Amino acid sequence: MANTEFEMQDNGVLVPLSNGPKYFNYYWLRDASIASIDPQTRERIFDVSHLPTAPRPTGMAFKNDMLVIDWEAEDTSSEVSLALLEQVAANGRASDVAALERNVWYGNFLPNISKVSQAEVIGTDAGRAALTRALIVDGIAIVTDMEPTEESLPNLVEAIGPVTPSGEGLFFNVRVEINPTNLAFTAGPLEMHTDLPGEEAAPGVQFLHCIENTVDGGASLFLDGVAVAMALKAEDPEAFDLLASHKIPFFYRHDKIDYRSHQRVIETDQDGNVTGVTISQHLQDNMDLPQELLDVYYPAFVKFIRMMQEDRFVMKFRSEAGNCVVFDNHRIVHGREGYVAESGSRHLRGCYTDRAAMRSTYRIASQKA
Ligand SMILES: [Fe+2]
Repeated sequence: MANTEFEMQDNGVLVPLSNGPKYFNYYWLRDASIASIDPQTRERIFDVSHLPTAPRPTGMAFKNDMLVIDWEAEDTSSEVSLALLEQVAANGRASDVAALERNVWYGNFLPNISKVSQAEVIGTDAGRAALTRALIVDGIAIVTDMEPTEESLPNLVEAIGPVTPSGEGLFFNVRVEINPTNLAFTAGPLEMHTDLPGEEAAPGVQFLHCIENTVDGGASLFLDGVAVAMALKAEDPEAFDLLASHKIPFFYRHDKIDYRSHQRVIETDQDGNVTGVTISQHLQDNMDLPQELLDVYYPAFVKFIRMMQEDRFVMKFRSEAGNCVVFDNHRIVHGREGYVAESGSRHLRGCYTDRAAMRSTYRIASQKA
């Protein structure tokens, strides 16, 4: 094979691609061989740790849509997809149909919220793709025309992913209870929060099926936590850094449970971009950051919570019987205005699924739809 186009170095090679030469590590190239994945199980069958020495090519060349590499210590050559190399050169990783650009939204979002019927979600790939796409892009959607049966909610959730358990079990009911275990189960207002931060990994996607709502008041409140966190970063970068840098304690405690966990109020990725928020006044444990740090942490924390009450961020609507609000519990912050318990009945049924399951459903459904 000719090496003329390739600049081989000690640990990797500059490969000439459409936008110029791009460096690839030899281990990565050996791992990326199409023969590393079993076509039947679609699992990796090549183990890089089994190589006797570090992989080193003796030659490489483009052949059709593959980069063919001969290796020093092996009898066979390997083939790496040129399309994969181009994707990695452009974005650092293989392309992912579920890596959709996020739409950050504000208090006026209600007319634009995605609505899909339960029959479409359960019965069609297009319906599943529409719902999961909205959850990835907007973090929230409404499923309409829910069957008024006991199996209605599980049937909907299972079209998206398996129901994931929480400290409340598989399903929970939000209505006035005589001996409530959670402020949600009273008629009082429920401040803006994400669910169950006391769990090691808080639930991913939340479903809230409105079975009945005839009370006065009790409007549902939602906001995009990413929008508020980005506004805080613009308006008070020091406050943002404090909330993004330190974990604070949360709990979920009752007779038979005592969950405790620490979470960052603002989650960021390695580039400092906001990936989510965690907030819950009613499940917040006593702060255990150093007392001197609290001198600056608390004002930042209070500022963020107060921003979450501002009209510019909060979308308000009345939950209608037959609708199910679905939202990303690591991004969308929700709450409820108080209502008059004697004025009628209000009953919501809820559960969760995993965000990776939701994205998996989008990848499959969007390709079939
Ligand atoms: Fe909640």
